[in-house]
Amino acid sequence: MESAIEALRRSLQTGQIVAFTGAGISAESRVPTFRGADGLWRNYSPERLATAEAFWEDPHLVWEWYDWLRGLIHAARPNPGHLALAELQRREPARFTLVTQNMDGLHELAGSHDVVKLHGDIWILRCMQCGREGRNRQVPLAPLPPLCRCGGLLRPAIVWFGEMLPEDQWERAAHAAQNADTFVAIGTSALVYPAAGLVQVARRSGARVAIVNPDPTPADELAEWILRGPAGEVLPRLL
Ligand code: OAD
Repeated sequence: MESAIEALRRSLQTGQIVAFTGAGISAESRVPTFRGADGLWRNYSPERLATAEAFWEDPHLVWEWYDWLRGLIHAARPNPGHLALAELQRREPARFTLVTQNMDGLHELAGSHDVVKLHGDIWILRCMQCGREGRNRQVPLAPLPPLCRCGGLLRPAIVWFGEMLPEDQWERAAHAAQNADTFVAIGTSALVYPAAGLVQVARRSGARVAIVNPDPTPADELAEWILRGPAGEVLPRLL
C-alpha cells in the first residue's frame, strides 16, 4: 500500500495516472455487477440480454431488464470510491484520466469530468431508425419498448456484445494507457475485451499497474500492487 501511494503521489506531481473502472466500483452503491451473483435478472445473464440479436428478438424483454437497472441506478448515490477518484482529478486534472466501462453515470454524479466512457451511457436513448439521441432519466419508462418521435424503436446508447466501442472514446483510452506511468484498474473482472486489453497496453508501455478488487482477476499477473478489498474502502485510503 505504501509504495502504491508513493507511486501515485509521484505520478500526480510529474506523470500521468489512469484510473480504469468496472462495475465493482458501483457495487457499494448497490448497483449489481455483471458477473456477480446479483447480476442475474429473472435468471437471464447480461451476456444473454445485452446483444442486438436479443433486442430484435424481444425488445420488450430487453427493455424490462434495462428499466429495472435504470431504477436501481436512479436510486443509487456515488460511494467513497467514486468520490476519491473525483478528488484525485480535482487535485491535478491535467495528470489524471478516468476511463470507465460503466454506464451508470455515478462517476459524473461524484464530480468527475471528461470521463472516457467505453461502453456508453444508460441514460441516453438512441433511435434505431433515425439515429436521434437524447438524454432520458425517466424511471420507470412507459410504455415499453420506448419509441422515437419518428416511430422507430429506441435503444439504450450502450455498447452491446459484438458491437464496436465508440472510436473517439477508445482512442482517448488507448492514448491515456500508453502515456500512463501509473495505471489503476478498479472493480473490473478484466474479462471483456477490448476494454480489458488496456491493462496490457499500459503495462507494455511501461506503466506500473495497481489492481483494486476484493477478488482475483486475470489482470493480477500484470500488477505490481494488488490491493484486496472493496473500492469504497481502498480508494479513500490511497487518496
Ligand atoms: P464484472 O461484473 O465482470 O466484474 C466486477 C468486478 O468487480 C469483479 O472482479 C468483482 O470481484 C469486483 N468487485 C465486486 N465488488 C467490488 C467492490 N466493492 N470493490 C471493488 N471491486 C469489486 O464487471 P466489469 O468488469 O465492469 O459491458 O464488466 C465488464 C463489462 O462486461 C461491462 O462494462 C459490461 C459487461 O458486460 C457492457 O455493458 C458492454
